[in-house]
Amino acid sequence: MSTLSGWLPRRGATAARGRTASNYRRTVRSPIRCQPPVYSPISWDAARRAAMQGLGWRDDPCPRVERLVRALYRAQETVLLGSGTQALELAIRVATRVAGEQCAVALPAFSCYDVATAAVGARMRIALYDVDPGTLGPDLDSLAAALASGARIVVAAPLWGTPVDWGAVERCAAPFGAVVIEDAAQGHGAEWRGLPVGSFGALSVLSFGRGKGWTGARGGALLVRRFPLDTAVAPPRATRLSSELRVVCSAVAQCLLGRPAVYGLPAAIPWLHLGETRYRDPVALQTMTRAAASLLERTLPLATREAAVRKQNAAALLASIPPSSRARPVTSPLGGRSGFLRLPLRLPGGLAGFSDPRTALRLGVAPGYPATLATLRAVRERLTGRHGPWPGAQDLVRELVTLPTHSLVGTEERQTLLRVLEQYR
Ligand SMILES: Cc1ncc(COP(=O)(O)O)c(C=O)c1O
Repeated sequence: MSTLSGWLPRRGATAARGRTASNYRRTVRSPIRCQPPVYSPISWDAARRAAMQGLGWRDDPCPRVERLVRALYRAQETVLLGSGTQALELAIRVATRVAGEQCAVALPAFSCYDVATAAVGARMRIALYDVDPGTLGPDLDSLAAALASGARIVVAAPLWGTPVDWGAVERCAAPFGAVVIEDAAQGHGAEWRGLPVGSFGALSVLSFGRGKGWTGARGGALLVRRFPLDTAVAPPRATRLSSELRVVCSAVAQCLLGRPAVYGLPAAIPWLHLGETRYRDPVALQTMTRAAASLLERTLPLATREAAVRKQNAAALLASIPPSSRARPVTSPLGGRSGFLRLPLRLPGGLAGFSDPRTALRLGVAPGYPATLATLRAVRERLTGRHGPWPGAQDLVRELVTLPTHSLVGTEERQTLLRVLEQYR
């Protein structure tokens, strides 16, 4: 996604037309007003307490958060890390102990680029599999082909909270003896068969980053089941003051700026790269900061409430999209319930098909991922097995947009979003 500076309404430009225009004018009262993609609530009290615990003036919350995460997601072991990407890298490293050092890891061709970063960090060969555009889950024929070509580790990720048909993925992987890693970075609030997404993999991964359902400003967790956790693979505990301070600053920034009234300000700063999908090189694994763990303890009730509102808002939006609309929703598998981190929709021309893409962006509409993982140089260098095509992933690159579902999108803005969708060409 391009930065906001590229699409702030130009002086004199007609921002929207007809009824949408009047709604839009009421909604967008100032030039810095803009919907954030996700609202991950952090209270001021939580930020203050995180500063105290991060600076070591109070007890260390990490052991408590480990126990909390273990209980919520029914894991045997939990390792708290500096980010979801690091947790996924560690998951892949742990899986190679069972699947073999020489095997390849199968990644979805359409996904967050951090998934590729984790595989590169673990120094794996990479096989890509295609994604079903109707469900955002693995295309099982394509996954089977990746396994037949030698992949023995699979990463499956519920995108924007849409659960993956976990049973089908495990049935596909079982004949090859492959380890399936559940990358539930975007899965907060989602369920499959009555349990939270993140409860299913032999190894599961959570992210507590800035734009996630349950946030600690930064952080991630590896959840281990059905595996003995070799403690040698986890990074040693270290408290680094600079990391603690970075988390506290990020939490304060989130409290101050993560709101529609002012989000246009940080979004217009190019070096913040907000809302952009960028490939980042892997970094050394680090344990979670005390400040992030402290935030997680305090934000869980807020995140739980927010997840319930997201589901209501998504249901209201979906119910109001007429059958004649060009928007095609994504379906959850039987027994699955999306957490709707955002509402994914397929539109034939993607973002470009909106009559005024700037208005759409400002209302919180965002394009999906801009390219398949196969286009990343770091992935191409490690690619094994089939080199494409990935028709499902390519369709999604062209067509997928996501709508905001969070509690800061008011009724009027939701109606404006629907009208903008109605006028889609
Ligand atoms: C599917 C997926 N996996 C992993 C990650 C990495 O998480 P983090 O941002 O905490 O590094 C993300 C981040 O958005 C993601 O969407």
